Amino acid sequence: MRRERLVVGLDVGTTKVCCLVANVVDGIIEIIGMGMSPSRGLEKGVVVDIGRTIQSIRKAVEEAENMADVRVDNVYVGIAGKHIRSINNSATVSITRPDRIISKEDVHRVVEAARTIPLPPDVELIHVIPRQYIVDGQEGITDPVGMTGTRLEVDVHLVMGSVTAVHNLVRCVESLGIRIAQIVLEPLASSMAVLSSAEKELGVVLLDIGGGTTDISVFRGGDIWFSKVIPIAGEHITNDITVGLQTPIEEAERIKKEYGTCLVDSVGDDEKIDVATIGGDGTKTVSRKKLAKIIEPRVEEILDLAMQEVEDAGYRDLIPAGMVITGGTSLLHGIVEFAQQRYGIPVRRGQVPQGIHGLRDIVESPIYATAIGLLKYGVEGRDFARMQATRGRGGGGLLTRLFGWFRKFLRG
Ligand SMILES: Nc1ncnc2c1ncn2[C@@H]1O[C@H](COP(=O)(O)OP(=O)(O)OP(=O)(O)O)[C@@H](O)[C@H]1O
Ligand SMILES: [Mg+2]
Repeated sequence: MRRERLVVGLDVGTTKVCCLVANVVDGIIEIIGMGMSPSRGLEKGVVVDIGRTIQSIRKAVEEAENMADVRVDNVYVGIAGKHIRSINNSATVSITRPDRIISKEDVHRVVEAARTIPLPPDVELIHVIPRQYIVDGQEGITDPVGMTGTRLEVDVHLVMGSVTAVHNLVRCVESLGIRIAQIVLEPLASSMAVLSSAEKELGVVLLDIGGGTTDISVFRGGDIWFSKVIPIAGEHITNDITVGLQTPIEEAERIKKEYGTCLVDSVGDDEKIDVATIGGDGTKTVSRKKLAKIIEPRVEEILDLAMQEVEDAGYRDLIPAGMVITGGTSLLHGIVEFAQQRYGIPVRRGQVPQGIHGLRDIVESPIYATAIGLLKYGVEGRDFARMQATRGRGGGGLLTRLFGWFRKFLRG
């Protein structure tokens, strides 16, 4: 039987709000509506002005609704910001029933134990991602239900965020009469859009370098091991150009995209560009090399800070598949080559995967990675929930084990 439903992803970013509406037929995603509006109420990935954020979301959602000719009432919404923290934890329970067969309730018990950590009152859990189960010492089990054992352990990745930041985002969406299917960590969403399963298996770091935040995530053995959001990204490059070339911010943004590069040596000494001056209608001529010299150190700083996080977390030598860069700033000329030279690892720009249909030429841009990832999250999570009962180790991938699904599955 043909299964058809609507899934909506809402990426509330620092520079833009993007809403994608997809018609999903038998698990195949066809984008039928898209809305985008400049984001006005966020700083560094966090809502700082509720009224303006609501306006931006309303505009993006209405646009997408009009294009798709549907009403949006349920969304997967991304969250980022430097308030996000993640840790790995584990727990063990005994299986005491005489038959020693592990049940759903046992899985529930062990995950509950692993997610129970002391949290300050202003912090809440966003994701509880079981990475692997261990039954009587046997590691690498994805679904232990039905196995026999006496000791069940679980390793989980816990993602938490500030209660205020989460609630402000929820308020903005719900005030428009839209329900939230799930709040999803943006690095996680982006990873679903641009990483291959081979990369995730081997070990890879994903950087989503947007306007206000750089989202970092590390995958290994198919699972997420580390996630972090740092509050520095493309807007900082633009600000540096504004100051360095004494030009209005819109002009700085334009020349960054048009002429910017982070490879100073790739620019000839005689290359010149015309730049608007502040406060007048005049223009001045500056060398493109000067522009590159402003951009390069900031890009270096962003990438170094991100790599330092990876190093501090102990994963620097555990990413043989290298680095994937996505988000709007990944479009900066030379950034892939720059990262490759600096860290001596394979680097590529993240692209929208196969299997996404509709508006493909538009959504192929890395600025849509998070929104597409939210759609994939919405689709694949549910698919797996249905398959779970008959499926053992080996299938599913990361979101199969995400918490929203997990609870539904256990209740069901
Ligand atoms: N061609 C380009 N060259 C350089 N930078 C670019 C280019 N295109 C877009 N950008 C930059 O990408 C940034 C926006 O990226 P993106 O849309 O991924 O951010 P966002 O999702 O709104 O923000 P965040 O994820 O940080 O909250 C802006 O700073 C913009 O200047
Ligand atoms: Mg973003």
